[in-house]
Amino acid sequence: MASAFSGLEVDLCGLRLKNPVLTASGTFGYGLEFEELVDLNRLGGIVVKGLSLQPAAGNPPPRIAETASGMLNAIGLENIGIEAFIRDKLPRLSRYDTPVFVNTYAKTIGEYAELAARIDTVEQIAGIEVNISCPNVKAGGVAFGVDPEAAGKVVQKVRMSTQKPLIVKLSPNAPDIVSVARRVEDSGADAVSLINTITGMAVDINTRRPRLANVTGGLSGPAIKPVALRMVWQVAAAVKIPVVGIGGIMSAEDVLEFMIAGASAVEIGTANFVNPRVSMEIIDGLVRYLEENRLESIRDIVGTLEA
Ligand SMILES: Cc1cc2nc3c(=O)[nH]c(=O)nc-3n(C[C@H](O)[C@H](O)[C@H](O)COP(=O)(O)O)c2cc1C
Repeated sequence: MASAFSGLEVDLCGLRLKNPVLTASGTFGYGLEFEELVDLNRLGGIVVKGLSLQPAAGNPPPRIAETASGMLNAIGLENIGIEAFIRDKLPRLSRYDTPVFVNTYAKTIGEYAELAARIDTVEQIAGIEVNISCPNVKAGGVAFGVDPEAAGKVVQKVRMSTQKPLIVKLSPNAPDIVSVARRVEDSGADAVSLINTITGMAVDINTRRPRLANVTGGLSGPAIKPVALRMVWQVAAAVKIPVVGIGGIMSAEDVLEFMIAGASAVEIGTANFVNPRVSMEIIDGLVRYLEENRLESIRDIVGTLEA
């Protein structure tokens, strides 16, 4: 079994992961939706759908539109709320031997801190991924993620509220993502993950209306991979904390590109909608790559780009 192969092990924020393949927030539900399709025990980690203090209904439909080599979404962070997650989903999810990261979303710095403090009390949650990069909500989210100053303030408060490993998810919509990454590192983040979606839109030429009720949405999928890769490379060169690469990953080869560019781990997003078993196929592909190249550990390729 590929999952028993120790060559894929990586360290992330003091946690030893079986492999560098995590599932990205919002594309893998609360994990349990994929139980029948994927061996959840084989994943490096699961990042669950963004959770807020209170349940949220999200934006009105239509909220998804297909685009060339990608998709636009404006879900607007619909979720069941942190308490329902802890009560109804986590007991079953934590039976798997796979770290669960909770992605958090809030409208104010105080709420981000409150969420972190609540999560801090729950042993079965391995870590927090703070989403300061959602482009599809009116308040909070990306407003914090595009400004280094604001991002730093969120992370400082969250850091004071929890001992858990803290990953901060960055926005490609920031004018200078490297400055945000540096500030977030200085404010106490244990890792950064990038990228979230890139703001885009689509038009229906017959109705002359936007294809999303929200007008704009977040672009994801293979279309954004080159942008994500470039940003991961830039950020990895600028910070000492680990970088988690996200954006358009469809195959083991894509994962390797991100790791060579400097990512210590990756998250698989939109690809889960195309092929729900893609994470398993990617893990198998990584094992094959190590074997074919006679490499002992995948860690040896991180940041080896010769540029
Ligand atoms: C339908 C959908 C919902 C998403 N929901 C969240 C979310 O709740 N929190 C978050 O941080 N990112 C969310 N994302 C962003 C993804 O986690 C990921 O960063 C992005 O889609 C880029 O990766 P990909 O190209 O592999 O999909 C969502 C993406 C999609 C497509």
